[in-house]
Parts: sequence; structure tokens; C-alpha cells
Amino acid sequence: MSEMLQIDVKALAEAALAARKRAYVPYSHFAVGAALLCADGQVFGGCNIENAAYSPTNCAERTAIFSAVYQGQRDFVAIAVCGGPDNAEPVEFCPPCGVCRQVLREFCANSMPVYLVKSADEIYATTLEGLLPKSFGPEDLG
Ligand code: THU
Repeated sequence: MSEMLQIDVKALAEAALAARKRAYVPYSHFAVGAALLCADGQVFGGCNIENAAYSPTNCAERTAIFSAVYQGQRDFVAIAVCGGPDNAEPVEFCPPCGVCRQVLREFCANSMPVYLVKSADEIYATTLEGLLPKSFGPEDLG
């Protein structure tokens, strides 16, 4: 099913950039956005949401995936991520942190495309496995 959906990478990049505008980042001032494409074509956005106690901070990727799973989605096709200082458009690629890579691994195929976005025209494409090789996932529990 997942393979049948044509991925509009530019549109997904734009969705990540739009989601980034919702970031709540009073401590790091580093705003991140993510857009997660589901097999049925729905896109779930996410932003990072920080906390005065720091460690409860939720990354943009996890905001997107947890929102989607709560809405009944479990079949994911691609994710786009962008980030950078909150006073400007992204100038560097923002790779997902290790915790978010592992959370993606729970629900996504190793081959799932991950698009790192500076703008709709500057996109670095990799895969979940490219970011998290030799990973531990649900099937390893037997
Ligand atoms: N952040 C994300 O939202 N996603 C990542 O994968 C990397 C880091 C956020 C967490 C924190 O709010 C800020 O970026 C600085 O680390």
C-alpha cells in the first residue's frame, strides 16, 4: 500500500516549513518542523514544544508521529524535517535526533524516505535506515 502513493516531496517540504512556524521554543530558540505523510495521503505536522524543566521537551518529529498514531494512523510513507534558529529560515539541514529516529523505527519501514529540508528547493533525501543503521525494532523482540 505504502509504495503506491506518489510522494509530492515539495509539498511535504512546505508542510514541514509551515509546521515549524508553530514551534514553542523559548529556551533554545531553535525551531523545528516536521511533516509526516501517511499511506492514505494525510499529512500530520509537528513542531518542537519546549518546557521550563527542559527534559519534557518534545521534538517536532515525535509531535507529528504521536499525533498521527493518536488519530489512528500507523502506515507512514515519508517524513520531512526542517529546523534552525527561530528568527530566520533554515540555512542548514536539521537531521532527526537519535530518540526521534528510534521512535520512527517503531512504525516506519527501514526504507522509508526521510527528507531534510532547507527550503522547498533544497532537500536532502535519505532513508530511515540511512539515519539508523543496524537498528533495533519491534521484530527483534521475537
Ligand atoms: N529538536 C527537534 O525538534 N527535533 C530534532 O530531531 C532535533 C532537536 C528540537 C529539540 C529542542 O527543542 C531544540 O530542537 C534544540 O535541541
